[in-house]
Amino acid sequence: MSIHILGTGSYAPEHVMTNHDLEKMVDTNDEWIRTRTGISERRIAAPDEATSDLATHAAREAIEASGLKPEDIDIILVATCSPDMFFPSTATLVQENIGAKNAFSMDLGAACSGFLYGLEVARSMLDGGRYHTALVIGAEKMSSLVNWEDRGTCILFGDGAGAAVLAFRPERAGGLGPCNLGSDGGLGDLLMIPAGGSRIPVTEQVLKDHSNCITMSGQEVFKHAVTNMTKTAKHLLAEAGWSPDDLSLVIPHQANRRILEAIRARVGVPEDNVFVNVDRYGNTSAASIGIALDEAVRSGRLKPGNKVMLLAFGAGFTWGGMLLEWSTPA
Ligand code: UT7
Repeated sequence: MSIHILGTGSYAPEHVMTNHDLEKMVDTNDEWIRTRTGISERRIAAPDEATSDLATHAAREAIEASGLKPEDIDIILVATCSPDMFFPSTATLVQENIGAKNAFSMDLGAACSGFLYGLEVARSMLDGGRYHTALVIGAEKMSSLVNWEDRGTCILFGDGAGAAVLAFRPERAGGLGPCNLGSDGGLGDLLMIPAGGSRIPVTEQVLKDHSNCITMSGQEVFKHAVTNMTKTAKHLLAEAGWSPDDLSLVIPHQANRRILEAIRARVGVPEDNVFVNVDRYGNTSAASIGIALDEAVRSGRLKPGNKVMLLAFGAGFTWGGMLLEWSTPA
């Protein structure tokens, strides 16, 4: 376990959209949203704020916390399903913003599992020995992908970014541990943006029927999220020889409070040991684990030696989990 997180950062746009704000936009109410999802409010980016802007804030914080300089970064991975544009990649835009002149940069698409996928891809590259430091960012402007007339989805999502700087530090105890990733492309149509890409380019009809926005079979996604994250959690605990009580903190993708509770109960983790901030941010897709990790670090919830589990699930379907032991700050 010689790859370590040296620093974390996060950013959420200033504008808070509450459930009461949504009541004025679609046929919904605060009580339904809170009881069915656990969400009270979410952040919404300004019209002139793009995903790379959110990512840049989080990246700067993470680099500062790491004690490194932007030019020390070798790899920049931005996990996102709401890039500024098809190309150049959001990662290259961030590279320019932060002045990471010596990095190579690319985006990574695994929807809500993107940050976790990014950690594993970066870890594998650092393990190879050719690169020494990586900046992994999950960043989303989900508000740009949502159909604001669909109450089944528009109440769920929010905007934000989370980031982590990883480096090879063999002299330290702890670090990133076992990881398990999976995907099932047969279930892609349960959560998708059907149009706007090369299959169905944007036309007037597409804009009229909102098929360039998120569509989701909520109940199906819910079931698969619980099943896959539970299975992954149990698999990882068995692989590491850890019991659920060994985990100081589980940081799951924040999609729905009821999903988190179902996984917690099935895996047997004490209630206080599951990190929850979905109430304040909603589902920020690839950003959620990075934001939660940063909040856990900055609030003192994570201490050196703590055993942690990250868990993710998203469109594709994609899912995964990773164990880590929090190491001494840089
Ligand atoms: O990040 C990737 C993964 N994404 C997820 O994990 C999301 C997973 N799915 C979910 O979180 C839940 O399925 C939802 C929160 C999306 C929906 O909750 P649900 O308990 O599955 O509700 P439902 O879709 O079965 O709808 C129940 C009722 C329906 O009314 P009827 O048919 O019973 O009369 C809906 O029309 O609630 C209605 N409804 C709403 N009512 C008020 C659906 N959305 C709303 C709403 N406000 N916003």
